[in-house]
Amino acid sequence: MTEEAIMESSAVRARVPAKINLHLGVGDVRPDGYHRLRTVYQAISVYDELIVKNAPTLRMSLTGEGEGELPLDDDNLVIRAARALAEEHGVTAGADIQLHKRIPLAGGLAGGSADAAGALLACARLWGVDVDTASLAAIGARLGSDIPFCLYGGNALGTGHGERIESLPVGATLHWVVAVADGQLSTPRVYSELDDLRAAGVGEYHGDTDALVTELRVGDAESVAPLLHNDMQAAAIGLRPAIAEVLDVGLADGALAGMVSGSGPTVLLLARDDHHAHALAGRVRLRGVARDVLTAHGPVQGAHLY
Ligand code: C5P
Repeated sequence: MTEEAIMESSAVRARVPAKINLHLGVGDVRPDGYHRLRTVYQAISVYDELIVKNAPTLRMSLTGEGEGELPLDDDNLVIRAARALAEEHGVTAGADIQLHKRIPLAGGLAGGSADAAGALLACARLWGVDVDTASLAAIGARLGSDIPFCLYGGNALGTGHGERIESLPVGATLHWVVAVADGQLSTPRVYSELDDLRAAGVGEYHGDTDALVTELRVGDAESVAPLLHNDMQAAAIGLRPAIAEVLDVGLADGALAGMVSGSGPTVLLLARDDHHAHALAGRVRLRGVARDVLTAHGPVQGAHLY
């Protein structure tokens, strides 16, 4: 075998889903600057993929969403995650990480966190580091609040600043239209807008997730629909009024429910089933209010090798 063929045969492939928050309760700000959260996460079938190969140094390349736009150096969470894993386990080898992104950027779908989760999993395999999901999640938690969930996937309750994960039983599959409103939103900017609204007496913390957790286990799309909630929605709409237009269009076109995903500007429209999701996505696309309209289902498994 040529050297290139050997490198190719030892390549590790990982796939990582986007996350959405079916409930996002944002509490007060902690001394470390993070907000206390109580959130119900769901992993959905929009994936980023990583192919990782042996290399003398740590480096990455990118195709798809964010190509030519995102940094490929230490500012990228992928490199930071791989470096953190190497440091913790005394690995001196490098890695060549090829990332193919489909998860829309800065949309409230945790794309960057998904990539970091994929890098942790794939590099651990490439370097022969024997670690379980909890250990990878502990490394990930130091780099981004959503990284642990991207490793676990499924449905899960998130507490702390989002990094403490308790997996939930899986019931019905939910079908979504993922409509990305124009523009990107920086997560810290939306949190500070929410703080300003709260200081002005607008909005409050919603911490009750019990009914939603029950319906995710025993119910269906119709019974889950009225229980979806996001404390960040008003702040995100305040910063990007186009979000409200996407929500209005989706609801007028027959979505069971609509909500902002995480810190936005992506809007999630809940459909009755797969057929309804495709029909709804077609109608929303025709209205021209969103820059990208995808369909997806959840829950799906978290970061995995394939
Ligand atoms: O952890 P992550 O890198 O995703 O957080 C990005 C930023 O979002 C943080 O620096 C903080 O400003 C804000 N954040 C927050 N409370 C959280 C999670 C994130 O204020 N629970």
